[in-house]
Amino acid sequence: MQYNPFTLLDKTILITGASSGIGKAAAIECSKMGAKVIITARNVERLGQTIKQMAGSDHEYIQADLSRYEDINKLVDNVPEIDGLVNNAGISKPILAQFISEEVVNAIFSVNTFAPIYLTQRLLKQKRIKNKGSIVFTSSISGLACSEVGESLYSASKAAINGFVKGAAIELATKGIRLNTVNPGLIDTNIFDEGIITKEQLEEKKKRYPLRRFGKPEEVAYAIIYFLSDASLWTTGANLIIDGGYTLI
Ligand SMILES: NC(=O)c1ccc[n+]([C@@H]2O[C@H](COP(=O)([O-])OP(=O)(O)OC[C@H]3O[C@@H](n4cnc5c(N)ncnc54)[C@H](OP(=O)(O)O)[C@@H]3O)[C@@H](O)[C@H]2O)c1
Repeated sequence: MQYNPFTLLDKTILITGASSGIGKAAAIECSKMGAKVIITARNVERLGQTIKQMAGSDHEYIQADLSRYEDINKLVDNVPEIDGLVNNAGISKPILAQFISEEVVNAIFSVNTFAPIYLTQRLLKQKRIKNKGSIVFTSSISGLACSEVGESLYSASKAAINGFVKGAAIELATKGIRLNTVNPGLIDTNIFDEGIITKEQLEEKKKRYPLRRFGKPEEVAYAIIYFLSDASLWTTGANLIIDGGYTLI
């Protein structure tokens, strides 16, 4: 067999938000690296499309709305022991600070912050994450290094994850369980489909990226693979920025 320190052969990985964008790319790329992958999201049809594009045949999907505690419990009840968890599902709802309401806070935090924390907690409590397992969070440069007009709440929801990872990484180190985050800049996915950012604004934004383009979902997936693989066995609590140089300026 060819030497490959990034292999995911014999690993079982659970990926949230795998019906589109970064999560879908992560599921496909992890399957190509040899993992058995369990994917989850709300939209069953799109989950099925992800499965169709994956390499190998023993992957499965579990439908769950992660804003609902009962669905998180159902998910935990239905997953086997896993080697890796990718807490990737997330939403963006730009809103100016002065217009923030309890409803919007709950909507954003339930998916971006509470779901990854609860899912991680419940999987740990049920002993579903193997010793030496890896937990990866899709955070954002917007929770780590910068923000935008209308993104205060989104930034707060992601910054909370980056904080959670620091403390939990220390606690879980005794079991060899590692927690790391990937922090993308703008990636070409459906996340901006709600039409809050116009095409013209997106073109303008692109010019602010030193590498002169937005990222591709696969380019985040490859970093997720690094954190899931044994190549990163000595890396925990790390925040990897993947942003075409955006935060350098
Ligand atoms: N795209 C970017 O520029 C960018 C930059 C930095 C960070 N990120 C982060 O990257 C992650 C993935 O985003 P993306 O860009 O790939 O967006 P996307 O294409 O919109 O995908 C979001 C995924 O999250 C799932 N999801 C949303 N709400 C959910 C809920 N209530 N329950 C379960 N699943 C839910 C969606 O599935 P269903 O609709 O089927 O439920 C979908 O699979 C997010 O955490 C996002 O904040 C994205």
